[in-house]
Amino acid sequence: MHAMFDTPAPPGAAAARPGPAAASTADRFDTVRARTLALVASLGAEDMVVQSMPDASPAKWHLAHTTWFFETFLLGPNLPGYGVFDPDFGYLFNSYYDAVGPRHPRPMRGLLTRPATEHVLAYREHVDAHMRVLLAQGLSADLAALFELGLAHEEQHQELLVMDVQHLFAQSPLKPAFDPAWPGLPSEGVAGFRPVGGGPVPIGVKNGAFAFDNEGPAHTVWLEPFEIADRLVTNGQWLAFIAQGGYRRPELWLSDGWAQCQEEGWDAPLYWQHDGTAWSHMTPGGWRPVDPDAPVVHVSYYEADAFARWAAARLPTEAEWEHAVRTRDDLRQIDDVAWQWTASAYAPYPGFKPADDAVGEYNGKFMSGQMVLRGGACVTPAGHARPTYRNFYRPAQRWMFSGVRLARDGGTAPDTDRLAFLRDTLAGLSSAPKTFSPKYFYDATGSELFEAICRTAEYYPTRTETALLRDIAPALAASIPEDAVLLELGSGASDKTRMLLDAAPWISAYVPVDISPDALDGAAKRLRAAYPSLTVHPLVADFTRDIEVPRAFAGRPVVAFFPGSTIGNFTHDEAADLLRSVRERLGEGARFIVGADQVKDIDVLLAAYDDAEGVTAAFNRNVLVRVNRELGGDFDVDAFEHRALWNAERERIEMHLVSRVDQHVTIAGRTFPLAAGESIHTENSHKFTPASFARLAARGGWRVEREWISADPAFGVYLLEAID
Ligand code: AVI
Repeated sequence: MHAMFDTPAPPGAAAARPGPAAASTADRFDTVRARTLALVASLGAEDMVVQSMPDASPAKWHLAHTTWFFETFLLGPNLPGYGVFDPDFGYLFNSYYDAVGPRHPRPMRGLLTRPATEHVLAYREHVDAHMRVLLAQGLSADLAALFELGLAHEEQHQELLVMDVQHLFAQSPLKPAFDPAWPGLPSEGVAGFRPVGGGPVPIGVKNGAFAFDNEGPAHTVWLEPFEIADRLVTNGQWLAFIAQGGYRRPELWLSDGWAQCQEEGWDAPLYWQHDGTAWSHMTPGGWRPVDPDAPVVHVSYYEADAFARWAAARLPTEAEWEHAVRTRDDLRQIDDVAWQWTASAYAPYPGFKPADDAVGEYNGKFMSGQMVLRGGACVTPAGHARPTYRNFYRPAQRWMFSGVRLARDGGTAPDTDRLAFLRDTLAGLSSAPKTFSPKYFYDATGSELFEAICRTAEYYPTRTETALLRDIAPALAASIPEDAVLLELGSGASDKTRMLLDAAPWISAYVPVDISPDALDGAAKRLRAAYPSLTVHPLVADFTRDIEVPRAFAGRPVVAFFPGSTIGNFTHDEAADLLRSVRERLGEGARFIVGADQVKDIDVLLAAYDDAEGVTAAFNRNVLVRVNRELGGDFDVDAFEHRALWNAERERIEMHLVSRVDQHVTIAGRTFPLAAGESIHTENSHKFTPASFARLAARGGWRVEREWISADPAFGVYLLEAID
């Protein structure tokens, strides 16, 4: 049962709404009451009686209970001479107010074939007429607060009514539509994460506009910096979770959630059914196909939590949610799509006291065993919800319009961002020609395969650069100032770094930057052991976005190091941007040592990217294996051929995966056709000449101070100086 929806909040907490001046109190009453009737206009008498599960109530019961609220709490005690409409209704339509007396058991509401609907409608008219008399007399402040509560209560039941009718109709093989013209949920695609600062933040409602008692008292909460998704999780993302065994992997679930999942045989959100080809689901508009770009709804807290774990994220706390919504203006789908599960248990705020009278039972007594949801849903009456609103349900419930907005801790490693991988994969397969980003090559297998590539006879860059660095280390050291900080981009195992550290023992600190925390950890441990006087300060970051010289090293000269010709994996525009951002972060007088492979004989180049043992081919195809494993894709990996080619105009090796046959691939509910011979472009590896590299460096704000090019095979190491 959803407590909040079944009754009101205490008078003290329910101050008058600010709006009454605009519309008269009586008009607002009429509007809310009329909306309830409008909602049942399309229902037949039989639709209004049946109760499809204990959590749901028949429409007729909602009509009567909302009326009972006004009769019991406003008319009876406050309208002199008011006579109750029917003395039995106090028992039949009390929801959960112990202070008001005994009541008909909730699970048996569907057995109330009497009173007939007409009698309930007459009850509404009777109470409405008397309410107008009461309102015409003017309301005291306490009564006005109770009246606002009555309106909010009825609006809550309007939402419940739609949820309950949908649940009822979903049981019917006819799958009737509650509203055949229902427009569906917005297809706005997938979310990106937005940063939100931490610190002490105000939470909860202050005096003023109407709010439920559970939204206060206002108080301060300490938040660590975090990131929050700008949209809700989509059906497509949920399909990827399902395809990846989300409902079969206990390690993703809370213990209670897993037990529930097993007991109820969950394999998808409530109302979803697979007909052997595609998923469809019950909506207010009837039985419809699942739209991969629309937000997922009808998931329990347990499912939301498991999904978040799969996505290497988490649910926001309710304070994070409220603070983010108050301080960021770029969050969408806040209160008009689906209530959003939070990681917060429904508990009283500090200083919360329920009122002494019966309406004190409205919210307070349900503060156990439930989780808070924030926002508002497509079925919530317009203007009903607000940023401080605390909805709550038990963690296994899912017939309400409940969805998921993800969050994660500030500074979470970007390589764990599975949803970014999904987003980039879908975008790449939607573009023409099809592409993949090479950054997704490097899962554990991909990293091992890359190391194996470096050991092949044909792949010369790594061993050539290592030999060159060994030769020129003394010359490079001469350009590294006393006390310098060495900052390495994409440091991995930090193997080549040792040559610089050995040649320039006056380097005082080393800042390896990598997106893999594991690689950083291992490298930092090894270097600290080998260079005890060196300060090692690892930085988990995507070096294309967030490199930063730690504040502790402010004022020291910085030398950046970017070996391996990784710069060749960026387009020239991206590489120029990267060089510029490093230039801006490092400031005046900075130096930058960059390794960049050189243009050379095409056969040597092609062999390096298509070795005889097929290691590079396996490396290339592994990205398909990764899509299948992590995103639930269905790539037939063997139906793709590895191809390396030289693009003379752009001076780069390109790697492609070429479809051997006409085929389709489905990922997260989206199907992409691939014609025989069609390619997915997976990587560029630009090659340079001293002149082309100098041009690129200049675009990024750097001048080549010195360069060393190895003789056959040619590989370049460039020492750059920041242009003032
Ligand atoms: C990491 N990067 C510099 C390598 C390169 O040569 O572009 C990646 C690679 N791709 C295929 N073989 C190696």
